[in-house]
Amino acid sequence: MLSAHHRGRKPPQGEFSGDRLLPATMKRTPKPLENRLNDLTWRDWLLFQKSWFVHNPPPREKGVLLHPAKFPETLCQEFIEFFTKRGQLVLDPMAGTGSALLAAVRCGRRAIGIELNPQYACIAADRLAAEEQQLCRDESSGLAQVICADARDLLRLGLEPVDYVLTSPPYWDMLRREGFETQRKRRESADLDVYYSEDEADLGNIRDYQCFLKELVGIYRAVAEVMRPGAYATIIVKNVKKGGTIYPLAWDLGRLVGEFLVLKDEKIWCQDNQRLAPYGMGKCWVSNTMHHYCLNFRKPEAKRRARTAPGK
Ligand SMILES: C[S@@+](CC[C@H](N)C(=O)[O-])C[C@H]1O[C@@H](n2cnc3c(N)ncnc32)[C@H](O)[C@@H]1O
Repeated sequence: MLSAHHRGRKPPQGEFSGDRLLPATMKRTPKPLENRLNDLTWRDWLLFQKSWFVHNPPPREKGVLLHPAKFPETLCQEFIEFFTKRGQLVLDPMAGTGSALLAAVRCGRRAIGIELNPQYACIAADRLAAEEQQLCRDESSGLAQVICADARDLLRLGLEPVDYVLTSPPYWDMLRREGFETQRKRRESADLDVYYSEDEADLGNIRDYQCFLKELVGIYRAVAEVMRPGAYATIIVKNVKKGGTIYPLAWDLGRLVGEFLVLKDEKIWCQDNQRLAPYGMGKCWVSNTMHHYCLNFRKPEAKRRARTAPGK
């Protein structure tokens, strides 16, 4: 609304810069915006900034059915295309069957994955080799590497600085829970894994929630060290329900990882193609949880050193 002072007057000439009015003579043609983060159009940039999205994973290919909790490559690709430019390096320290790595190669990025279970690491390596062959591009060979190792040893692997991290941890020991709804069908099939491994180093086998959190945050602390300043990390995770208690894994990670990386905010991934189960019906509120948190963190940029005059 115009103030009494402006009512009935001609609108002021010139343009507003912040809260200052610049005289028309000082008007400059705006410099085109430089995109320092990714290769997207401004429209695609804006669309990705919405804080929630629905993504129903397409049916899985046969080779990756073995893994009990795999993510869709299509989802990974959207994140990688937002947080990197072509040629940059993506890390997944718990790579499973390699969804993030495969998505990275598909959009012309390089990728490194660490995975504890040798069977999953082999599947990931085979999928990457097949993808690179299909791309048939000279520059695609050697774009991605899978290292079969304990992510807790990450700092001993001598990784080069990483431009983006896209990862998802075991959701504590949920896959071990008797009657875990999404695992029921898998239990009936002899060929499919219900949990990741029997390995003691597997974080999905730690029974105590606080111990699990400590080990996981230790891995992310090491990850933060190999990220280049200014790089982003996205952790896809859910809060966990066990024996009627909520363990706020996503919120705990936001708080704890936020102590050494800057928590930017979350994007909420909703799935709306899952069967509803009648939990607590007639007795109490128990949600059918069909969303994951994609927590976005950023490593602070290196501080610029103030120039000092010679001799000072
Ligand atoms: C949620 S899954 C990752 C799934 C992956 N994003 C995909 O789409 O295939 C978590 C993975 O962490 C691995 N893992 C558990 N403990 C680990 C450790 N100490 N070091 C490396 N990987 C580990 C498990 O074997 C499992 O594959």
